[in-house]
Amino acid sequence: MNTSKVIDGKAAAARVLASVKADVSKLKSDGIEPALAVILVGQDPASQVYVRNKILRAEEAGIRSLEYRLSAETPQAELLKLITELNDDHSINGILLQLPLPAHIEEALVLQAIAPGKDVDGFHSENVGGLSQGRNVLTPCTPSGCMQLLEDACGDLSGKHAVVIGRSNIVGKPMAALLLKAHCSVTVVHSRSVDAKALCRQADIVVAAVGRPRMIDSSWLKPGAVVIDVGINRIEEDGRSRLVGDVDFDSALPQVSAITPVPGGVGPMTIAFLMKNTVTAALQQFHSRQAHAQQSTTQSSPSEAVCLSIS
Ligand code: GUN
Repeated sequence: MNTSKVIDGKAAAARVLASVKADVSKLKSDGIEPALAVILVGQDPASQVYVRNKILRAEEAGIRSLEYRLSAETPQAELLKLITELNDDHSINGILLQLPLPAHIEEALVLQAIAPGKDVDGFHSENVGGLSQGRNVLTPCTPSGCMQLLEDACGDLSGKHAVVIGRSNIVGKPMAALLLKAHCSVTVVHSRSVDAKALCRQADIVVAAVGRPRMIDSSWLKPGAVVIDVGINRIEEDGRSRLVGDVDFDSALPQVSAITPVPGGVGPMTIAFLMKNTVTAALQQFHSRQAHAQQSTTQSSPSEAVCLSIS
């Protein structure tokens, strides 16, 4: 358990990445080279930074990365064709399509085109459904990172009341599903909630993912609450540009038992879990190809199977 009040997301991400790196080198020694394809459509400045960081972290972890930068005018059919090619390419284990997409591309449709087994974002309906049923599927990276931080800070989450602020497909909904899987009582607060603040004040755990700078101050928090701030909002203050979370950190700090800062909290964990998902996908694909090969050959016996596992 972490004893510091300010949760160090960079250190936690470094631990995850170190374990991923060890897994990658084990897989490589068994002849498996995990590979991640990252697709960026258009020139959104924040997305360009995120994609660059994803490629860098992949390289550091020993994961082969392929970057596809498409123009903002790329027709949807062309993007779908690329996704199909990557789905069919056995040397690619994970496919990440950076969001947001240009307005002419139907997000739900193209995300659904990614093979569920390569969907390292966990956005395909098969993975979303699997998560809501509590199955072991590829799970969205930011909520997975938040869960790791919560488990590091609190240990067992069972029986805790968690309030998730925000109901996006990327964070709020999968976060609620993961907290439920960890045996929390979960409340999702959103723009139509009646007295969101009163609901939030009941929470042992608050996960803020609304995208509104410093919306949650100490008056929203029960004394001793654990706060995970997913917001990354750029604001102009005192004549300079800076990043702040959805939580007013200075106001919240004296009230809470633990809190993530922005930056340096959840952000690094998202990328670390993308790498972890890529390795998981590579291993699952290896095992499923092996099972297929065994089914289609009469000579093989179970003892001939290569059995690999990672931490
Ligand atoms: N844009 C912002 N967050 C994410 C994410 O987690 N995955 C993808 N693909 N795009 C994003």
